[in-house]
Amino acid sequence: MATFRSLLLSGLLASTTKAQAFDAGVRGEDAFSYVQPLNTTILGPYGHSPAVLPSPNTTGSGGWEEAFAKAQNFVSQLTLEEKADMVTGQPGPCVGNIVAIPRLGFGGLCLQDGPLSIRVADYASVFSAGVSAASTWDKNVLYERGLAMGKEFKAKGAHIALSPVAGPLGRSAYSGRNWEGFSPDPYLTGVAMEKTIRGHQDAGVQATAKHYIGNEQETQRNPTYDRNGTVTDVIQEAISSNIDDRTMHELYLWPFANAVHAKCASFMCAYQRLNGSYACENSKALNGILKEELGFQGYVMSDWGGTHSGVASIEGGLDMNMPGGLGPYGTVPEAGSFFGGNVTLAVNNGTVDVSRVDDMILRIMTPYFWLGQDQDFPSVDPSSADLNTFSPKSTWVREWNLTGERSRDVRGDHGEMIRRHGAEATILLKNERNALPLKAPKSIAVFGNDAGDDVMGFYNQGDFEYGTLVAGGGSGTGRLTYLVSPLAAINARAKEDNTLVQQWLNNTLIANSNITDLWIPETPDACLVFLKTWAEEAADRQHLDVDWNGNEVVESVAKFCNNTIVVTHSSGINTLPFADHPNVTAILAAHYPGQESGNSIVDVLYGDVNPSGKLPYTIAFNGSDYNAPPTTAVNTTGVYDWQSWFDEKLEIDYRYFDAHNISVRYEFGFGLSYSTFELSDAKAEPLAYGIISKPEDLPILPGGNPALWESVYNVTVSVANKGDVDGATVPQLYVTFPDSTPAGTPPRQLRGFEKVFLAAGESQTVGFELMRRDLSYWDVVSQEWLIPAGEFVLSVGFSSRDLKEVVKITPVEA
Ligand code: NOJ
Repeated sequence: MATFRSLLLSGLLASTTKAQAFDAGVRGEDAFSYVQPLNTTILGPYGHSPAVLPSPNTTGSGGWEEAFAKAQNFVSQLTLEEKADMVTGQPGPCVGNIVAIPRLGFGGLCLQDGPLSIRVADYASVFSAGVSAASTWDKNVLYERGLAMGKEFKAKGAHIALSPVAGPLGRSAYSGRNWEGFSPDPYLTGVAMEKTIRGHQDAGVQATAKHYIGNEQETQRNPTYDRNGTVTDVIQEAISSNIDDRTMHELYLWPFANAVHAKCASFMCAYQRLNGSYACENSKALNGILKEELGFQGYVMSDWGGTHSGVASIEGGLDMNMPGGLGPYGTVPEAGSFFGGNVTLAVNNGTVDVSRVDDMILRIMTPYFWLGQDQDFPSVDPSSADLNTFSPKSTWVREWNLTGERSRDVRGDHGEMIRRHGAEATILLKNERNALPLKAPKSIAVFGNDAGDDVMGFYNQGDFEYGTLVAGGGSGTGRLTYLVSPLAAINARAKEDNTLVQQWLNNTLIANSNITDLWIPETPDACLVFLKTWAEEAADRQHLDVDWNGNEVVESVAKFCNNTIVVTHSSGINTLPFADHPNVTAILAAHYPGQESGNSIVDVLYGDVNPSGKLPYTIAFNGSDYNAPPTTAVNTTGVYDWQSWFDEKLEIDYRYFDAHNISVRYEFGFGLSYSTFELSDAKAEPLAYGIISKPEDLPILPGGNPALWESVYNVTVSVANKGDVDGATVPQLYVTFPDSTPAGTPPRQLRGFEKVFLAAGESQTVGFELMRRDLSYWDVVSQEWLIPAGEFVLSVGFSSRDLKEVVKITPVEA
């Protein structure tokens, strides 16, 4: 019997009726209940996804009306074949390509990775990774970074940046792609999304919020296929992230709502299944939540190879199939596409109404016109085509106009900014006996395989042993044009003070040696140990230690050197078992800072920059302390056996540790400075009167009900720099909800932060505006955000566990 997939491959799907497509579609809506009858005893209260049909039409509301009219005019001139082309990717010069329609003056669309750089390009900058940008807790840095990246994408001819990332959010400390995104805290990530998107789009480039939604692990993110000739069959479906409605809204959806609110042009749906059906055909997530509830006016593109059906995906809310072909990851060109010619067929035989296809194109073209991409947009740099291993020239079936200037240098003066961002992102976790900043040391020794130059080239897609790490691997990496290693920067700086610099970069040697045997004549004033931790797309981390025997390296150095300063370049959480070693005087978490890495860290080590980075996650004592590890080692062979139950609900990262009073090594929001700061005089003022629990029912705009985004309280606090050096700090506001809030509400949730720079002795008043959404929980019964009755406790401090000032408010009387 022909399988559903082989039917699709042969193009027969398009001639089935719509109802048949859904019924036959093990991947269609209600698919889960089709193959595995819906049984809440087995599935629990979630684990299935109701169908939400039809897909809502865009209207261009919220400021895109003029562009929408242009898009309507454009669509009205298209033939059906051209319409199919507009929604289907083709192999070409960019990572994703939509063909040109020259007779309409449309030059096509170029889609390029990724969240820290335009990856498939030469002469472009490698910016700090998301995790580093989040560690700055600086809204200006987040915007500035997004803007500079956007300028580079545009100058290289990319209309669409496949950036930024809010999924993974960071449910699991081990997830391989957490570093591409920002923080497991939805509020911090929400602000980062909004700032980055505004930055990209102010530069004239469309932003893509990805991966929507529930993409919280890499293991089994795609189905396992049995590749048999030209037909691919599924052995096991991708993991299903099974998320309940409240957790969805308050945690995973939260930052994506910010993205819609920021008028993000596109969303990329995720690889894995969500509550039983694939995220790229999940009509509840795409039609129901994204387009209806959040009022998203842009388009949903699939992750590469994440489309698993034609009609069911189109009806389910998918607007663009990328990269266009079929297959486990990318294309099986000979197999055709779920979209492409099948869209034409499906419209011709009445399976899909052409109005749905028109809406898909309106969604694609409205942001294009809104950003003025029809006016003098730079051509695609031909060098991208040469670097694009994803669809090399040999696979192209259409013509691409590559007559523009080759190898354009788009970096401008971004290096200086990247250096500054890297320094601002550096988190000082420990600083005893005034180890830092360094003060013209007579002699230092540099240890560790992360200190020196990279030895495996500048496009790193593997965990190479020698050389510093400034980005992780996979589609979110960058192609370096130069790299300032820590060692190079230290040597340059040490010259100014005539400091003696010695170096040992072989971790195996250091870990297994008595350091005095390494011919160190006298103990250096400071021993700087550089360690790294790799992470990449398509694999989850196996442990939370630093790599390459890093712990042993520190032990070995600290045994000999009583001023051991550890710097980590890491994808994220490391448990740092050496943190309490008396000879480890300082620890700096520098994450992935981008191309100026060495200069950024030297600026902090020598005190030219006073550290002000704060942890965007919690560092626990042990890897096993974290809840919600990835689902691995499913040893059964059932097609649907990969299930991940998000039973911890809202309790991830600090929400979990706080709810269970678990001690941690360094808490969320923590980070030291060379100065000391104080908070005083917290006050809260209502900004609205007669606040009631339920928001006013206003017409939906991008971001959802606009009432949710209205400021209802202003909290102010005075912050003072009491030390004798200038520097910045980050007052943070945490909200404790009243007792009347449903069970499972975390004890404290971040709802405000502001980075303030203060000269020594200076003080300033900082304000946090609390929006209605900030004081609401998602009520699953009424399907509304409600402000619970009773007293809220608002705590302001320097971390999630260093709360200095408290104010109480009662917006809605009990
Ligand atoms: C797959 C990744 O998940 C996505 O983030 C990326 O943009 C595409 N590949 C294209 O490289």
